[in-house]
Amino acid sequence: MKHVLSAEQYNRESLEQLFELTDDIKKNPTKYAKKLDGKIVAVMFYEPSTRTRMSFQTAILRLGGQYIATENAASNSSGKKGETLQDTVKILQGYADAIVIRHSSDTWPEEAAKIATVPIINGGAGKGEHPTQALLDLYTIREHRKSLDGVKVAILGDLLNGRTIHSLLKLVSLYKNVEVYGLSKECFALPQKYIDMLASRGIQYKKCNNFNDIPKDVDVMYHTRIQSERFEGDFGREEFIINKEILSQFSEHTIVLHPLPRNEEISEDIDNDPRAMYFTQAVNGLYVRMGLFVQAFEDK
Ligand code: CP
Repeated sequence: MKHVLSAEQYNRESLEQLFELTDDIKKNPTKYAKKLDGKIVAVMFYEPSTRTRMSFQTAILRLGGQYIATENAASNSSGKKGETLQDTVKILQGYADAIVIRHSSDTWPEEAAKIATVPIINGGAGKGEHPTQALLDLYTIREHRKSLDGVKVAILGDLLNGRTIHSLLKLVSLYKNVEVYGLSKECFALPQKYIDMLASRGIQYKKCNNFNDIPKDVDVMYHTRIQSERFEGDFGREEFIINKEILSQFSEHTIVLHPLPRNEEISEDIDNDPRAMYFTQAVNGLYVRMGLFVQAFEDK
């Protein structure tokens, strides 16, 4: 059964299979228009979402399937009445052929997988992982740069709580001669376990103090929002903002990515710069998620 629980389940070969499938879906969408014919997918989001939830729902519809969903599972499902996520999965797998979940728990995917009889897809797990976001991020980098070997990536923003960063590091570190630079406020520094994971794969994480410490020919600047919903208290505003002036210091090949939604960390004055690829990135999410559903049902 093809669950999508963590970026850790991927290797270079399985990533390339998914990306080649995604390329084909983008080029020939009608070829896939009935792939989910007769299938129903349950979409349970216990946290807010625009892109992930709606691109999953669009992917299901574009593949000829149907979905059942709650607008807000935290308040409208029986989770509100104390039902455990495991009980909810046990029920939904009697109704649907796959289940997509977003939940504030970091560990729900492994708990759900223990009892699941249908594919489970992780649409976001607390401050742990967001693997389908990382897949679309890497797909977008691959579209831009062709080879992922030798890619130089700067990660910015909330490296502590940003689940998209955590999943992306697990994927990008599968490639050769990768360089990773990190720029954040100290209170949002990358946890040591991710620095150790990079080191175990031969990548020395380079912590930066300001934009000058990031090489001007970096391939990707990947910014993230301060995840204020994940902590108590006020840790102030983002200090490192990518705006026109900052971007002008970087190569014409440096792309700017962001999982979105953004707050102030990326200025709107770069939106029309061809290097600002965050809206393209979000659209790629639709095609990558279509690819994941095709794989999920092919492997059953
Ligand atoms: N990137 C992302 O997860 O966006 P949403 O919260 O809108 O789904």
